[in-house]
Amino acid sequence: MRISPSILAADLADLSTCLKHLEGTGCDMVHFDIMDGHFVPNLTFGPPLVKAARRHTKLPFDVHLMVTNPADYVEPLTGLDIKLLSFQIEATRFAPRLISLIREHDMRPSVVLNPQTPLTAVEHVLPLVANVLIMSVDPGFAGQPFIEQMYAKIEQLNAYREENELVFTIQVDGGVNQNNIDELSAIGVDIVVAGKAFFTCPQPEEFVNRVQSLA
Ligand code: DX5
Ligand code: ZN
Repeated sequence: MRISPSILAADLADLSTCLKHLEGTGCDMVHFDIMDGHFVPNLTFGPPLVKAARRHTKLPFDVHLMVTNPADYVEPLTGLDIKLLSFQIEATRFAPRLISLIREHDMRPSVVLNPQTPLTAVEHVLPLVANVLIMSVDPGFAGQPFIEQMYAKIEQLNAYREENELVFTIQVDGGVNQNNIDELSAIGVDIVVAGKAFFTCPQPEEFVNRVQSLA
């Protein structure tokens, strides 16, 4: 399994130090939570900060858009070595078109589902995306507890992927910690995002090693 620490839980006023520290932990990528204060009740940062961060690290970026108009963010995020560009299915009426736009800008599209959104909402785009991100908390804030009912949803998604021989990766975001990573790996998760549990961990490199040792 791979790990993408979410800088939402880090000291955003000291981002360059944080990025250097992340490189030292051996983590696989860095998760950026772009929130517009409209799609979610919190406001974080936009593409300019992601662009500024690019100058301070070679780690791949993983950008999670929690915004009302995700299509507006694709062009400003181009050319920043973004491995996954995630948009919320609830924020668009034209998901296949948005996925094409992301690919045209040389990024890998990823679709996100809020806890209350059923898998059927994304069934038509599963052959088109590189990654499916299952939210295991309501988006907007770090430090919330994992919603246990999401295990069944992830299992269902993993079974669907196998039955249909699809190749997207499964990512989980929200309330991930060292007590639930074994279970997440066992049910088919490929990438975990970790905010609070990662940045409050006394030995984050051990957290990284544990995740990376899981299948
Ligand atoms: C929540 C964000 C998450 C958040 C995760 O809206 O999408 O990426 O930072 O933080 P933790 O791991 O603390 O739940
Ligand atoms: Zn996120």
